[in-house]
Amino acid sequence: MTLSRELSAARTLSVSPLDIERVRKDFPILERHVHGDKPLVYLDNAATSQKPRQVLDALDAYYTAHNANVHRGIHVLAEEATALYEGARDKVATFINAADRAEVIFTKNSTEALNLAANVIAWAGQPRGIGPGDNVVITEMEHHSNIVPWQLVTQRTAATLSWFGLTDDGRLDLDDIDSVITERTKVVSFVLVSNILGTVNPHEAIIRRAREVGALVVVDASQAAPHMPLDVQALGADLVAFTGHKMCGPTGIGVLWGRQELLEELPPFMGGGEMIEMVTMQSSTYAGLPHKFEAGTPPIAQAVGLGAAVDYLSELGMGNIAAHEHVITTYALEQLQQVEGLRIIGPKTATDRGAAVSFALADIHPHDVGQVLDELGIAVRVGHHCARPVCQRFGVPATTRASFYLYSSPAEVDALVGGLEHVKRFFGVAS
Ligand code: ALA
Repeated sequence: MTLSRELSAARTLSVSPLDIERVRKDFPILERHVHGDKPLVYLDNAATSQKPRQVLDALDAYYTAHNANVHRGIHVLAEEATALYEGARDKVATFINAADRAEVIFTKNSTEALNLAANVIAWAGQPRGIGPGDNVVITEMEHHSNIVPWQLVTQRTAATLSWFGLTDDGRLDLDDIDSVITERTKVVSFVLVSNILGTVNPHEAIIRRAREVGALVVVDASQAAPHMPLDVQALGADLVAFTGHKMCGPTGIGVLWGRQELLEELPPFMGGGEMIEMVTMQSSTYAGLPHKFEAGTPPIAQAVGLGAAVDYLSELGMGNIAAHEHVITTYALEQLQQVEGLRIIGPKTATDRGAAVSFALADIHPHDVGQVLDELGIAVRVGHHCARPVCQRFGVPATTRASFYLYSSPAEVDALVGGLEHVKRFFGVAS
């Protein structure tokens, strides 16, 4: 089943399939009050998700009973820690339908995964690597972590960097796809779901064109993996990056998935312990996959926490989570567009759209909007969301962004809308 078909199946529901009251009880932080007596309304999930008790318990159990370094001890704790760490890799491999567990490389976050991808491709030598006159294609809606690494490698290799622009409703403008992705293009790297616009991108058309010219495809799935079924084999990319902390896991753990034959062909990224087979003073040989790309002591507890997060998400069902978010996002888009003076920046309907909703409110600066909402207990993110070119494209210095997740409720959407009316009154903007 392709990603699009799975998503459409998940989104035929108009009522959430999740028991939200029960789900919310799994997240202790959602019980919090802030600024005295204000119940927390957490709408900053695209920045990081909250963590369920099941993940907190797994982290606690790891440090309480099993903590040791991995792959190098013969004592019982080292064996247990190794089994837990490698067990987490198995869980992630199953979660994304990797063909083999060796295709799952643990990194610190998506940013490290994307820097790894960009650099090892650039270093791969011809014909795979990036050299003078070659071209890399990205999009104008990338997070900085999928812009700057490609700027660095193209500048260092005298290659060129091009990108797809955006339509006024926040979609990729693919009209000139054949002249943007050309015979010179070595890599096409794009975000599957925008962290600022919420757009779900048409990966099939982009990957089809990349294949026609023999380019590698790198996908930033940071805002996809937490929210919808992700089947890397069905997706059809070569390398896919995502991060644990946006999907109920801890910070400090990310994933780079890659096709096994490609990962075997690519050179290592960082050198050090764990990634070697044999070291002499003159040269070294490298470990097999996935360890070739995991230099140094890895984020062990964090991987264990990600494994618990993947168990948690799988039990709820990623299709159910996508369907729930579709229901919430549909409601949020409808309600927000009732607020006079509010302009959605991004797609205005929930079709091919994720659960991050950016907007401008009259001429009130987003930082002021965010501050007054915070006083009401409502947590949103304001700024350029590490996607500054999008703000430039839409002529705003920043946006206010509400982003929903599996525990977000219609009552929280209502609180946001009420909060925005309060913000308008506070700044003397007429309704
Ligand atoms: N990339 C994260 C966000 O979009 C931090 O907020």
